[in-house]
Order: sequence, then structure tokens, then C-alpha cells
Amino acid sequence: MPSAIPLRCTVRGCGRELVIEGSQARCAAKHSFDRSRRGIFNLLQPQDKASANPGDSREVVEARRRTVDAGWVEPLRDALVPRVVDQDVLDVGCGEGFVLGSLVAAGCRGVGVDLSTPAIELAHRRWPKVQWLVVNADRGLPVVTESVDVVLSVTARRQPEEFRRVLRPGGRVFLVVAGDEDLCELREGVLGRSTAKDRASAIVQAFEPYFALQERFSVRGQRIAEPDVQVDLWAGTYRGARATQHMTADRLLPRPITFDWEVWVWA
Ligand SMILES: C[S@@+](CC[C@H](N)C(=O)[O-])C[C@H]1O[C@@H](n2cnc3c(N)ncnc32)[C@H](O)[C@@H]1O
Ligand SMILES: [Zn+2]
Repeated sequence: MPSAIPLRCTVRGCGRELVIEGSQARCAAKHSFDRSRRGIFNLLQPQDKASANPGDSREVVEARRRTVDAGWVEPLRDALVPRVVDQDVLDVGCGEGFVLGSLVAAGCRGVGVDLSTPAIELAHRRWPKVQWLVVNADRGLPVVTESVDVVLSVTARRQPEEFRRVLRPGGRVFLVVAGDEDLCELREGVLGRSTAKDRASAIVQAFEPYFALQERFSVRGQRIAEPDVQVDLWAGTYRGARATQHMTADRLLPRPITFDWEVWVWA
């Protein structure tokens, strides 16, 4: 079942509806995008390709997929699925696709966008019926105005004004950020973390002009993580993705590691 969520052309100044026919996506102004050999659409514009931020690398995306396969993200999925039943969902910065793939498996319709081609390819391979797109979300979201019920951003990009545009009246944003305790055992000794208070006020400042806070809750606990999972969890973080801060599995033991997601629901 292809996504029934109407897409929007990303060519600068266009914004017309983009219709997929076979292996092409096309708008009324005849801008067109070809499906890649791997089955995905890349809607990046030339200015995006030159951007310094290419999105997550294949290594990071694969590390995150292994943590998903180790069950690490199941508590977050279990918190979100019952709250987002039968809705049209746009996942911004969807990564390897687990959260949106799970929502669609439970009956939602979905479009997932990410700047990282390896992430979108991995997502497409596991959930081929979801519409995955390579897009720079900072340049606008590739769905038409008032076309979705839920915008999801799981430790990813936040564009409240665009979120408002694409949401139908009554629509909601599920903004998920790493809580203060997330992976604290792995972060121990790493200085320079921002405090929970700083992060919260930045979120409120960004969202309050467009939304009202409906609910805020934490998904928090501990799981025993094997050494290789600890390495992958670290690699999936902002710091761990940097070459200078790799962690290796030797000398690590299986141990309890804290997961902590903070979910903000804006409507
Ligand atoms: C920390 S990861 C989270 C991925 C996924 N939501 C998850 O929970 O596994 C952040 C994601 O945002 C993507 N990203 C970074 N900049 C982006 C942009 N400008 N537009 C779209 N996605 C972007 C990265 O490629 C990466 O997949
Ligand atoms: Zn166009």
C-alpha cells in the first residue's frame, strides 16, 4: 500500500504536489525525481548536496539498527504505539526507521524523511511499504499543508513552524529527546552536558509560539547491555559518532545501562 499522504515538491520556490507514478515522482511544473536502484527517492536539491551535514553515516546508522535489534527501543515504541492509533504520521529524522515502521505495522500510514541515504535505504529494506524519502528537513518538509495527524521527531530535527504547517487541525507533535539520565553509565566522566533545565527552556521557547503543551512524560528504565551493544549505543550518540570518541568492547562487561527518553506532546 503506497502512502496516501500527499507529497510536496522540494524544488526551491515550487512546493506543488508531487505524485509518484512507477519509478518517478513528478509535480505539475514537471520537476521530476527518479527512484534509485535501491528503491528510494532522493529529493535533495543541489544546495543540500553541498551542505556540510550529510546526515548520519552508514556506520552510525548500522550501529543504531543493531541497538534496535537488541530491543533497546522497544520501551519507546510501546509508549508511542497506543497513543498514535490509525493516524497519518510524518517522522522527521527517522533514521533506520524502527519507530515509524512499528507505527505503520500497527495500522498508521507514514512518511519518513532523513538526510542520510544509508538510513533511508536501511529503513526501506525492512519496511518497503512505508514512504521513505531522503530530504533535508531544514529546507522544509516534503508533504503538503495540513496533510498529517502526527509529526514525530525522535532525537532529531525540530522545525515547529513547519510542523504546524503540515499538521491538520487538531494534529499533534511527538517530540522525543534524550532525558538527563540517558546512557549515563556510558557518559560518565564526559563533561560539558547541558542541564535538563536548559534543554527544556529551549524546547518551550521554540514550540510555544505555535503549539500548546498537551502532555509530557518519561520513558525510563535500565537493561543489561552486552559489551557490543554498549559500543553501538555509544556510537549512536552525537559524541560517539565522532572518530575521536570511539569506545571498544574489550574490557567492558555486561552491565545495566539506563535509557531515558523524554516525550513532549504538543497540539
Ligand atoms: C539521533 S538520529 C535519530 C534517528 C531516529 N529518529 C532514531 O530515533 O533512531 C538523528 C537523525 O537525524 C538525521 N538528520 C540530521 N540532519 C538532518 C536534516 N537536516 N534533515 C533530515 N534529517 C536529518 C540524521 O541523519 C539521523 O538519522
Ligand atoms: Zn516542483
